[in-house]
Amino acid sequence: MVRIGLLGCGNVGRIITTHQDGFEVIAVFDQLPEHAESLASLSGAKPYSDFDQFIAEDFDICVEAASIAAVRAYALTAIERGKDMVILSVGALADNAFRTHLISVAQERKRKIHIPSGAIMGLDNLKVGQISQINTILLRTTKSPESLGMSVNTRTLAFKGKANECVKQFPKNINVSVAIALATAHEVQVELWADPAVDKNIHEIFVSGEFGEAYTKITNLPSPDNPATSYLAALSVLSLLKNIDNPLVIGA
Ligand SMILES: NC(=O)c1ccc[n+]([C@@H]2O[C@H](COP(=O)([O-])OP(=O)(O)OC[C@H]3O[C@@H](n4cnc5c(N)ncnc54)[C@H](O)[C@@H]3O)[C@@H](O)[C@H]2O)c1
Repeated sequence: MVRIGLLGCGNVGRIITTHQDGFEVIAVFDQLPEHAESLASLSGAKPYSDFDQFIAEDFDICVEAASIAAVRAYALTAIERGKDMVILSVGALADNAFRTHLISVAQERKRKIHIPSGAIMGLDNLKVGQISQINTILLRTTKSPESLGMSVNTRTLAFKGKANECVKQFPKNINVSVAIALATAHEVQVELWADPAVDKNIHEIFVSGEFGEAYTKITNLPSPDNPATSYLAALSVLSLLKNIDNPLVIGA
């Protein structure tokens, strides 16, 4: 059984600890001790509010479901302490210097960094961009105005441009575009729409290249327990963990 240490005990962390299938959460860490204690009481894992004590626990994989800041603060130490990482706040890897260093240390220590597909589908196939030409790649995200901190009455283009510019204005909306950029090894054009007619997060991905053309549309339902979290993001971590030791590797 794969042993997990959970970094971040919020909405996704709660789904992970309450759906342990093929893995066991043995330690949980959060900057808010009450969050760690709440998940510990649900799961039997040991709660930590001190990262050094948490990372000294005997687990194989540190699963991050916290924040970009948490990845920057802790991922390197986790790898140096011999843990593999699952990083959900993949926006942290937009920083070239940070990402390159993290990967080189993981390589040295023979550790893995897993990026779940998060709030989209088809991330695995986008890796064809690493070995064949991609001509265009556009991520069009549509959210309710409130979730973008906006107040508009009609569908409004909130941002159009490169992903690394989007992060400056809408830092919470960087994860999906960074995951696509890393998968394709290609710069991603981003459109972010605020639409008062939608109450769900919608991601549309348009790709064309040597392989042909693809269009994917993902309408994210909120998690049954917490409307703030796209259920698919939590499910993507659960399915990654369930398959992590499986000899049959599908679509990776
Ligand atoms: N890749 C994707 O497509 C995708 C999809 C959904 C969510 N996410 C990301 O996953 C992360 C978790 O999402 P969530 O809905 O569970 O968030 P959440 O706000 O419900 O929970 C985050 C938890 O992490 C803790 N935390 C935050 N920063 C920390 C730090 N520096 N040190 C220790 N603890 C810290 C918070 O106290 C909180 O308990 C977020 O960063 C979110 O952006 C990514």
